[in-house]
Amino acid sequence: MCADQLSVYDAIHLRRDVRAEFSGDLVDDETLLRILDAAHRAPSVGNSQPWDFVVVRRADTLRRFAEHVATKRAQFRDSLPADRAATFDPIKIEGIVESGTGIVVTHDDRRGGPQVLGRASVPATGVYSTVLAIQNLWLAATAERVGVGWVSFYDPEFLHALVGLPAGIEPVAWLCVGPVDEFQRVPDLERFGWRSGRPLADAVHHETFGG
Ligand SMILES: Cc1cc2nc3c(=O)[nH]c(=O)nc-3n(C[C@H](O)[C@H](O)[C@H](O)COP(=O)(O)O)c2cc1C
Repeated sequence: MCADQLSVYDAIHLRRDVRAEFSGDLVDDETLLRILDAAHRAPSVGNSQPWDFVVVRRADTLRRFAEHVATKRAQFRDSLPADRAATFDPIKIEGIVESGTGIVVTHDDRRGGPQVLGRASVPATGVYSTVLAIQNLWLAATAERVGVGWVSFYDPEFLHALVGLPAGIEPVAWLCVGPVDEFQRVPDLERFGWRSGRPLADAVHHETFGG
């Protein structure tokens, strides 16, 4: 390990969902490949590796996606009561154009054939596997001082068509990926008063959920 590499705990503590801190530089291809390799090393049910990664850099595609996301943001904003709308207004929810690189992470539930070892009674383990690849990607990017922002304000059908996904392959995430000037120490939703995290002690249970 190089002296300036982060431990996994360092990366976990440093990681943020990034919207506003992209430097405007593009992540270089070698770094991007290392980050994707880390994603591809994730555990997966039955070793099915149900993920794929579509790297999007065309300015026109980034712009079209950003415009679509802006309409979904406005719809969500309109659904809020006045006080929540006022809290939501200053919160940036994406850095699609500024990051310069989008990674669409997709899921193929047919990958691995009809008998995926371990998925028979919990079908969602397929999608869980794809999400683990995203978490690997996110932590590896953080270790490289590259920011990641997960965007989920979209209609899946729109994104499906935008990046030409074949039938049966579903988008799971649009990730904005790019070098950052800094990582915020406090999550944006906490800084802007939308919602704070809860203490670990509230999440840990012993023997039974109510115990
Ligand atoms: C499944 C998922 C979807 C998310 N979608 C969005 C999104 O559309 N826009 C956004 O700004 N942040 C999105 N986030 C980021 C969360 O708001 C963020 O992870 C959370 O507030 C905690 O902040 P942190 O990641 O910086 O610790 C998403 C995160 C996850 C895991």
